[in-house]
Amino acid sequence: MYQKRFKHGTLKLIVGDITEIDVEAIVNAANNTLSGGGGVDGAIHRAAGPSLARECEKIRKTRGGCPTGKAVITGGGDLRARYVIHTVGPIWHGGEKGEAELLRESYSESLSLAREYRIGSIAFPSISTGTYGYPLERAAPIAIKTITEHLDTYTKPERIVLVLHTLDAYNTYLAALNP
Ligand code: APR
Repeated sequence: MYQKRFKHGTLKLIVGDITEIDVEAIVNAANNTLSGGGGVDGAIHRAAGPSLARECEKIRKTRGGCPTGKAVITGGGDLRARYVIHTVGPIWHGGEKGEAELLRESYSESLSLAREYRIGSIAFPSISTGTYGYPLERAAPIAIKTITEHLDTYTKPERIVLVLHTLDAYNTYLAALNP
């Protein structure tokens, strides 16, 4: 575990399972249809129970899902977290298709939504770096920069946790935080 203080709050890096973190909101690395999947999406849906899929289906029917780089919010179902913020990161196509800007947006849109809901604590997974193939060493500095700029600018959320699933991912994010 590593923790660093910024102007308005703290960023914590941990190795673990995002479904077990005690925060007000966890972020899901979802897809455009919000129809569930593998990876962290599968884990969150399993832990939250069927109410999460029902809420996602409602958003799919009323708003057509969630565009890449945007975020939507649902309740947390059976999770400890009160909310799940579903964002859709970019699929990696080699880096020339606006991937970096879309990844930055995924983090910033999730944080804006959290701020709108006056959420004080939030946990993120490493968006896009699994199924979507975004190289970890390119994704980590974008995630870190977007989150730390938020902590230096806004007062909410004031506690942000990056939950890395492997030690390798943790070390990559740690290096991006302390280059
Ligand atoms: N807690 C934290 N991190 C996790 C967990 C978990 N329980 N399970 C997996 N991860 C990590 C992976 O190791 C990876 O580094 O989450 C990161 C993101 O990987 P994916 O879950 O594959 O997400 P992404 O690359 O954004 O792809 C999204 O995958 O599951 C589908 O529906 C989803 O189509 C969407 C796509």
